[in-house]
Amino acid sequence: MSFRRADFPEGFQFGVATSAYQIEGHGYGGAGRTHWDDFAATPGNVIRAENGTRACDHYHRLDEDLDLIAAAQFDVYRFSTSWARVLPEGRGQPNPAGLDFYDRLVDGLLARGLKPAATLYHWELPSPLADLGGWRNRDIAGWFADFTDLLMRRIGDRIWSAAPINEPWCVAWLSHFLGLHAPGLRDIRATARAMHHVLLAHGQAIQAMRAIGMTNLGAVCNFEYAAPAEDTPEAAAAARRYDAIYNRWFLSGLRNGSYPAEALAGLEPHLPAGWQEDFATIGAPLDWLGINYYTRKLVAPEAGPWPGYREVEGPLPKTQVGWEIYPEGLYHFLTSTHSDYGRGLPIYVTENGMANADRVIAGQCEDAARLAYVEAHLAQVRRALADGVPVAGYYLWSLLDNYEWSLGYEKRFGLVHVDFETLRRTPKASYHALAQALAR
Ligand code: FCB
Repeated sequence: MSFRRADFPEGFQFGVATSAYQIEGHGYGGAGRTHWDDFAATPGNVIRAENGTRACDHYHRLDEDLDLIAAAQFDVYRFSTSWARVLPEGRGQPNPAGLDFYDRLVDGLLARGLKPAATLYHWELPSPLADLGGWRNRDIAGWFADFTDLLMRRIGDRIWSAAPINEPWCVAWLSHFLGLHAPGLRDIRATARAMHHVLLAHGQAIQAMRAIGMTNLGAVCNFEYAAPAEDTPEAAAAARRYDAIYNRWFLSGLRNGSYPAEALAGLEPHLPAGWQEDFATIGAPLDWLGINYYTRKLVAPEAGPWPGYREVEGPLPKTQVGWEIYPEGLYHFLTSTHSDYGRGLPIYVTENGMANADRVIAGQCEDAARLAYVEAHLAQVRRALADGVPVAGYYLWSLLDNYEWSLGYEKRFGLVHVDFETLRRTPKASYHALAQALAR
């Protein structure tokens, strides 16, 4: 590694991130059915129709996995909680085993000197709530706040930081407009409602956590640097539209009480009546902002209905999932988030990392490409710090190879290799290098 912990400001937090459905093993411990189970069971949605029933079996290997985090001297573990594990029907009767699991997880972190950073929702909506319209139904904000209240009354006293919803863009646009994630819709009215309700749910969950005295609450959004595919005014405008929908809608709503004009141009006719009045709730005060960043996209204009753009393959080196490696984009979002939305709030990189076709050979797993990726992105973090951006931490995606949603189990994002036959964990070269760099 080309850096050491001492190269970062005192108190800078290094962490690793995971999510519930991607690692736990949703088939264990009485969790209820989710819209991801339904989506994955529908032919054509997920490679080999794979799902999270067993995943990494983290549910039974909790201690082994927490030991891995502690041994590398990370400061923070960013995990998510499964709504359907806690409330199998989404509402009503809790699952005691689910609450116990998150209780054990938090205590296990504290016992190892790790800070628990919880995300309440990372995409696995209980199916009974999907039946009621899921993110299209305004009532989801209340259902989500009730889940938040129930879970955080149990574990909130020991949580270091919390965010309601992972990546609102994925919850809304990717899942209701592009149809690539559950519930797999391609419908502009459903999209507009999800784009708004996801923020309303965020706001009500923040209020629920404040009400029970929790602090250090934030929001985690994902960003893709949008570059015009060609040097024309039309391509520049297409990239602006992409940027508005992807990168500015959510932060503008959360922090500035408005939505960007380029996005409203297509979505406003489909928003629920009275949407402007919800900004009072959506804008509930936050303590930090989280940036998930992986790649950039080249955007070209496209004839046809709004939003009138398409993605074009770019020339840069790519990861195993075909994403271009563009570390400068992280610098861009750190500085723009600070200047346009931060108003002094600390900013965390809550996810960054890459998929690589890693294999274990004679007990070793070499992943030099991942090391280079992490170093290049951390260099951009340091550049932003030098410019005065209050970056407070950097969390890697991910601790373990895991269930990469519609791409199933073959795309490997982990610092630790997982053999999905035997479930054996093998720390990769990047894990060992990070452990060395982070040693106190
Ligand atoms: C992010 C998700 C995470 C994982 C990584 C690769 O968008 O938050 O669950 O899929 O991408």
